[in-house]
Amino acid sequence: MVDDGYEDMVNIDISSVVIEAMQKKYTNRPQLKYMKMDVREMSGFDSHSFNAVIDKGTLDSLLCGHNSRQNAAKMLEEVGRVLKDKGIYILITYGAPSYRSNLLKEVGSWTIKLHVIEKLVGKSEHLWELTNPVPLDNEGSSTETLLGRNPDVHYIYVCTKVG
Ligand SMILES: C[S@@+](CC[C@H](N)C(=O)[O-])C[C@H]1O[C@@H](n2cnc3c(N)ncnc32)[C@H](O)[C@@H]1O
Repeated sequence: MVDDGYEDMVNIDISSVVIEAMQKKYTNRPQLKYMKMDVREMSGFDSHSFNAVIDKGTLDSLLCGHNSRQNAAKMLEEVGRVLKDKGIYILITYGAPSYRSNLLKEVGSWTIKLHVIEKLVGKSEHLWELTNPVPLDNEGSSTETLLGRNPDVHYIYVCTKVG
């Protein structure tokens, strides 16, 4: 993203090992700031201060631990708080709509578009165009009908905060 012109990016992780490793890896990218922080309690950030939040695997990680539902709700509340109105939360996850849609709808006020990217890029059979949103109904059954059961994809939820 820095190479595409994004100048001001803050990256957080709860692990100081991760933060130190990333700082070391990207010393040549001063546009990337790294901070050790718990995504459930981002009091170091003002409300309404970010245009976008990108999450690849962090919500998934919380959902694998103890008190998963409560921790996920805390995280999503904090994401909603730090985003500006009409800000975007991009959630990249293993979770199909039947596991993620209700959670997203319960915590926060979003309009949600779902995209999918195949895990094995370059396969001869192409399942779905990344830029084309997958129709999303309440139960997630529309996705199953269109893509089949357990499709080999990563799910990308593009959630716009309704101000
Ligand atoms: C699946 S990894 C994804 C890492 C990175 N986003 C990537 O795509 O390579 C999940 C990360 O979430 C971090 N994590 C887990 N719980 C967290 C929390 N409460 N606050 C911030 N980061 C957390 C872990 O330390 C881990 O680095």
